[in-house]
Amino acid sequence: MLTAIFTFLVATSVFFRATASPAAAPAVNTTNDGQTFVKITVPPFPVDTSLEVIPDSQHPFVAPGPNDKRGPCPGLNTLANHGYLPHSGVASFEQLIEGVEAGYNMEHDLASALSALAILARGNAFINLVSLGGESDLVPPLPGKIDGPTAGGLAKHGRFEGDVSLTRHDIGEGDYQNFQDDLYDQFLTYVGRYGNDSPTTGNASVVTLPVLQEYKHHRFLSEQASNANLEFSIARMILSYDDAAFVLNFFANGTDNVIDTAILGSFFRNQTFPTNWYRRSSPGNFTFIQDTAAEILDAHPLVPGTNKNGVWTPDAPLNTGSTFTDVHFNVMQNLASSLNNVTGNLKTNVETLLAAWAKPFGVDPTKVRPQGTPGQ
Ligand code: HEM
Ligand SMILES: *[C@@H]1O[C@H](CO)[C@@H](O)[C@H](O)[C@H]1NC(C)=O
Ligand SMILES: *[C@@H]1O[C@H](CO)[C@@H](O)[C@H](O)[C@H]1NC(C)=O
Ligand SMILES: *[C@@H]1O[C@H](CO)[C@@H](O)[C@H](O)[C@H]1NC(C)=O
Ligand SMILES: *[C@@H]1O[C@H](CO)[C@@H](O)[C@H](O)[C@H]1NC(C)=O
Ligand SMILES: *[C@@H]1O[C@H](CO)[C@@H](O)[C@H](O)[C@H]1NC(C)=O
Ligand SMILES: *[C@@H]1O[C@H](CO)[C@@H](O)[C@H](O)[C@H]1NC(C)=O
Repeated sequence: MLTAIFTFLVATSVFFRATASPAAAPAVNTTNDGQTFVKITVPPFPVDTSLEVIPDSQHPFVAPGPNDKRGPCPGLNTLANHGYLPHSGVASFEQLIEGVEAGYNMEHDLASALSALAILARGNAFINLVSLGGESDLVPPLPGKIDGPTAGGLAKHGRFEGDVSLTRHDIGEGDYQNFQDDLYDQFLTYVGRYGNDSPTTGNASVVTLPVLQEYKHHRFLSEQASNANLEFSIARMILSYDDAAFVLNFFANGTDNVIDTAILGSFFRNQTFPTNWYRRSSPGNFTFIQDTAAEILDAHPLVPGTNKNGVWTPDAPLNTGSTFTDVHFNVMQNLASSLNNVTGNLKTNVETLLAAWAKPFGVDPTKVRPQGTPGQ
């Protein structure tokens, strides 16, 4: 009897809710395959952006276990090892932003743009999660598998992970996800040739602009010669030079902006914050990073292109107006076109992320849309 009354009450309340707003489509919060919607919100700007010792006492190093996801980004791997990101290596949009702000003083809009791309390209925007490494059981593909049978994770090649990394091989030539000793050794020879002297770590042990200028160029020439399928589109080229700029601008000790081989090794090899290390003293923003990336590239200017069966072939210029709008457009050429025809809650999240990604590029996110093949 009680059950019958209860059922009746639930049934009528559903009926009244349904009739109260007959035109509104019900917000799908739980899908057939058991995914629960999580609304994405761009967090507010951080209150504290000052020079600080990192890690604080709440964030000691804990080595990753066998099921913890780590991947191509030494910056994010280090944050996860210290609990500035979930130790599992599976993080939300907001966690990524707050993690890179806290650990490295990455500026809010730059952090938001990168985090948005991570979720859109290689995560699940319905449940608001991405793996820092390969596929994770915690991150199922989007409902209806509208972008392929797996969410991929940041380690999946294309869209974000790409060729000509500093310490990871190109796909097809070796391990393209994890730290590689042989490449790091090459990096160190460039520190030895072009680096500055240090009273503590020794002569020619400080990583400088000329080190990155020469080593990045060497990496490009090396892959151009050895990787018959090299892909170095405008977006990949600029993003990879941004990564080189991150080394100088986010890994350097915030007190004196020095990054020596001890600090470099701590981040790249051990994926731990160096002892007595300070994050940068002001937020590192999009313009600042792009300026450094341009300084690195300008020593040996390159044109974007691909190796087609081993023959270097420059890409046709995109000519959207500027290098920045070209980079934004090129990324959108690879994001799944199916993101355009989602509805309801998923659409809300997708549009929040597309706007966060477009913001520092000064592009209208309603005009330049995802147009890539789903599942790529
Ligand atoms: C939410 C923010 C971030 C996201 C989503 C992200 C994601 C990625 C991804 C997918 C790669 C691989 C690219 C490749 O194939 O080379 C990468 C590389 C890299 N990232 Fe991050 N990253 C973020 C923030 C940072 C920060 C704050 C730092 C430095 C403190 C950093 C340092 C690097 C470096 C140095 C590389 C190049 C590694 C290499 O070439 O060997 N990243 N990042
Ligand atoms: C669906 O999720 C949204 C956002 O979290 C929430 O506001 C809404 O109340 C939820 N609707 C139902 C029916 O649970
Ligand atoms: C470092 O270089 C300086 C100047 O060339 C030299 O005097 C000094 O001996 C060098 N130190 C070491 C440890 O090699
Ligand atoms: C990395 O960790 C190992 C083992 O703890 C340690 O011996 C080494 O000095 C560390 N290297 C750097 C560059 O921090
Ligand atoms: C960073 O700089 C401060 C001040 O010069 C110094 O005390 C500290 O040891 C440096 N940290 C590292 C990791 O080099
Ligand atoms: C970006 O950072 C640079 C260097 O710190 C600073 O001079 C500039 O004012 C910043 N730009 C914005 C828009 O905050
Ligand atoms: C939306 O995208 C999916 C996946 O590409 C496709 O199967 C479907 O036909 C599209 N729907 C519309 C209305 O375009």
